[in-house]
Parts: sequence; C-alpha cells; structure tokens
Amino acid sequence: MKKPARRDGTPDSKKQLLSNAKPARRQHVSPRNVSSDPKSYTDGVRLQKVLAQAGVASRRNAEIMIDSGRVEVNGAVVMQQGVRVNPKVDVIRVDGVRVNVNNNHQYFVLNKPRGIHSTMSDDLGRPCIGDLVSERISAGQGLFHVGRLDADTEGLILLTNDGELANRLSHPKYEVSKTYIAEVLGEADRSLVTTLKNGVELDDGPAAADYVQIVDVHQGRSLVRVQLHEGRKHIVRRMLKAAGYPVQYLVRTKLHTVQLGEQKPGTIRALNDNELRSLYKAVEM
Ligand code: URA
Repeated sequence: MKKPARRDGTPDSKKQLLSNAKPARRQHVSPRNVSSDPKSYTDGVRLQKVLAQAGVASRRNAEIMIDSGRVEVNGAVVMQQGVRVNPKVDVIRVDGVRVNVNNNHQYFVLNKPRGIHSTMSDDLGRPCIGDLVSERISAGQGLFHVGRLDADTEGLILLTNDGELANRLSHPKYEVSKTYIAEVLGEADRSLVTTLKNGVELDDGPAAADYVQIVDVHQGRSLVRVQLHEGRKHIVRRMLKAAGYPVQYLVRTKLHTVQLGEQKPGTIRALNDNELRSLYKAVEM
C-alpha cells in the first residue's frame, strides 16, 4: 500500500521518527527467537502494540519503525507487521537500543532507619527491612534489598525484584561507589584524609577510600564523608577505627548517582528514570 505523503512531500516511512524508548535494563539477547513467519507464533502481543505501550511511539509510528527496519526482536530485524512477542522474555531494540518492555520490575530507595536489620524476614523476630516493605508497599512484589547495611547504620538501600541489576550492583567488578557520612570521636584533620585514601590494614586485608572529606569538627567529634567502592562487612566502621576515629553514627547517603537527599528514615520512594538509567550504565546493562 502506498504510504500517505506528508505536507512537506516526504512519505511517512522516509521520515526519521524519534524513538521515545526508555533504555532497557538489560542489553543482552535472550534465547527465544521470534520466527520470521508471524503466523507461526500466535501467542503474545503484537510488536507495534508492545512498542506503543512502552512509550516508544504511537502504534502507527511503531509500524513505520518496523517497516524501516529499525526494530529488532531477539537480535533479528523484524520488518513484517503482525509479529507477536512476549514482553516478559523477548529482547526488543529500536535503533540498537534495548527498550524496557517488562513492566514487572520495580525499583525503590529505602532510607533504612537505625535498629532495622537488612533482611526481608528475621528468624529471631527482630525488626527488618521486610517489615517496612510490607507496611509501605502492597504485598507480593517479590522485592529484595541490594546489599546490606549494619543494623546500626542508617541510610540508602535499594529494593528491587530485578535480580540481574541487584547482582551486578553487588559485584566488585563494577566498582559501584557508595558514600557515607560518619560521625566519629576525635577531631579529624588532613592526616585522616591521607590515611584513608592511602589505605589502612584490616583483618581481612587492606582497604582504601576513593574520596574523603572532613565536613565538620566540633567539641571532640568530627563529621567525615567517605566514598568507596567496596562492600566488606562493617568496612567504614573498621577503616575509621583503624585510623583512630571510632564511628558513633553512620549513614549511607549515596549509591553511585542515587542520593538519599531529604528522604526521611523509614520512607520508601521509587527510583526515577534518570537514576535507573545511570545504574544500568554503571553495571553495563
Ligand atoms: N560500612 C559499615 O561499617 N557499615 C555499613 O553498614 C556499611 C558500610
């Protein structure tokens, strides 16, 4: 069928439509191949509908994108209309960029209060993250926390049901940075910055900070900002103790570019698209 001409005389199919695609969480290809014969796969949802639901373009414009060879399903360009896909399994790309078509994933930032254990349920009945999640977010989302904070430590902890993102964020290979503010005993000076950046010897090997800032010094105590990219148990407390400044109070304020900001302890908020994008990027998804 001949495509309708636009007012400027260019047929729609020749115009470069902008994709509104949100980058997807994963860029790898999943195993199932969609047959080039759309009739052979009758389950699933039509590709143009999936693209429209993901906010890439209107259905009509999604059809034009398909016509133009801009859409891939599981690594193969699909130019036929009517192909059906499974949004939970199939990997869909527009212009080579993976599109997030799986609405099942959830991402939240919790400000874990002091006294709460980093578990989803606690065998000993102690207060835990699971209690906060079930109070704040309707049940059944299968959320889990990414990494841990000591019960005594307050601050930012990610909650998600996206296992791949969670695994990668916890993997040392990606060196995802974490920032903490510690209130310590002792009036810190520049030598603390040098000591932590050069590294201190701990029982389980040396540990060094990427960035250290003395924020405040007052009446025998100091506030120190420490950024590092490792996640050994009690690492910040142990490093500061080894440097001669025992921690009295510790809060995690940032994970990569995601900040706690003004979020109150015990509250949960959804990650925004920019934050999510930046986390995917940090772990090469
Ligand atoms: N380092 C600590 O000492 N405690 C935490 O909870 C996290 C990092």
